[in-house]
Amino acid sequence: MLGLNFSFMMAETIGETGTTERKLESFRGKALEALSRIKGAMAEMPGLEFTRLPWQDITPVKEAARRLSGLENFLLLGIGGSALGPKCILEALSPLHNQRPDKRQRPKVFIYENADPCTLESILSSLDINKTGINVISKSGGTSETIAAFMVLYDLVEKSLGKEAAGRFILTTDPEKGDLRRLAAKGMASLSIPPGVGGRYSVLSAVGLLLAEVIGADTEGLLRGARDAHERCTREEFWENPAILAAVLIFIMQRDEGRKIDVLIPYSDRLKSFSEWYCQLWSESLGKQGRGLTPYPSVGTTDQHSQVQLWMEGPRDKVVIFIRVEDHGADFTIPDVFGGYESMSFLRGHGLSGLINAEEEATELALAKNQRPNMTITIPSLDAYHLGQLFYFFEIVTALTGFFLEINPFDQPSVEEGKRLTFGLMGKKGFEDKKKEVVEARDKKSCYKV
Ligand code: PA5
Repeated sequence: MLGLNFSFMMAETIGETGTTERKLESFRGKALEALSRIKGAMAEMPGLEFTRLPWQDITPVKEAARRLSGLENFLLLGIGGSALGPKCILEALSPLHNQRPDKRQRPKVFIYENADPCTLESILSSLDINKTGINVISKSGGTSETIAAFMVLYDLVEKSLGKEAAGRFILTTDPEKGDLRRLAAKGMASLSIPPGVGGRYSVLSAVGLLLAEVIGADTEGLLRGARDAHERCTREEFWENPAILAAVLIFIMQRDEGRKIDVLIPYSDRLKSFSEWYCQLWSESLGKQGRGLTPYPSVGTTDQHSQVQLWMEGPRDKVVIFIRVEDHGADFTIPDVFGGYESMSFLRGHGLSGLINAEEEATELALAKNQRPNMTITIPSLDAYHLGQLFYFFEIVTALTGFFLEINPFDQPSVEEGKRLTFGLMGKKGFEDKKKEVVEARDKKSCYKV
């Protein structure tokens, strides 16, 4: 089970930049009130529908995966919450998936999550499009990048396979609304994202689960992990609930200690994409009305050699959240070679997992000694079960922090304006005024150029 150690957030251990039990305790009422909103779930806010995902029926996902079985490749088209979650699952549960010969019986997986033509060209030159199943994911069914890629791919597959083309696509979208749903109604296979599950909270819906099934991951394990995390993160015992404590600590640090940045540093390459997923979850959910903290994605030990100097001696504006994996699932004992060299002899006999975990522990303490608040989330191993816990834990922490900040953690009003201006530029009907705005702005932009 996931654990949280917040000793190095406390004044008792790191001095005056830490917080106190009394301060945390003073937050109990507010925290339990926020928790009751989560437990009341959808009654209050449709955005909380993600809390029901751990109990969903995954039969449709399994059926969709079966339709694609036998194909050589799986290509996922999506962006933001419709791509980052599946990418995390792939990298955490099947690292270097396409490079591993033992995975040959599984499809190779490609994720196209941008409108960059070079990336699409590279993907298309790496696979045989006739042997590829394509999962188009868009909750709204109208995100330009995803829809454009879908149109390009559909045209290609149709030219090659004719009427069979439709059978190669699975559309994952809203159960009722949007153009993808309309297309699905005309006979293309589809999966549904429940209406109240926003993109960045959708990883444990069909969005992430189809990819999980396709790569042979333990889909039930992911959901079981989330269910157990739900039990743990909705407990009313204030001092036993890691989600409440993490959210309260981050909020207090932001409100009272001027900590504006929260760094997430998992000590596992397999969680590098998790850092990116977390950044989107945190940014789009909490960056509103002049409030929020800036998330900062990182990975250990790599970023010790890139960022830690700044965290140690730079502005005192960060909270660092470590993720520690006790058992990495593989190990190499450092052998007895190259005798007589000081930089090598002490390493002999240790495992690489011992080294990465020692570096994690040492960095926690180094920061604490410099009065830099940090806390550590520990998981025993990085399997589907514990990944499910991590996803769910951070989703609950984000929702709680949103309630503490008194903003709606489930909308993203300001992403929309950029979308509208793009629609104008690309000639979408009804957005002519937006095109005019961009064209007029070009004049302003011509003043200061070199
Ligand atoms: O979290 C969100 O709501 C967004 O990041 C969306 O996931 C992203 O904009 C893609 O939207 P859609 O799934 O509608 O294509």
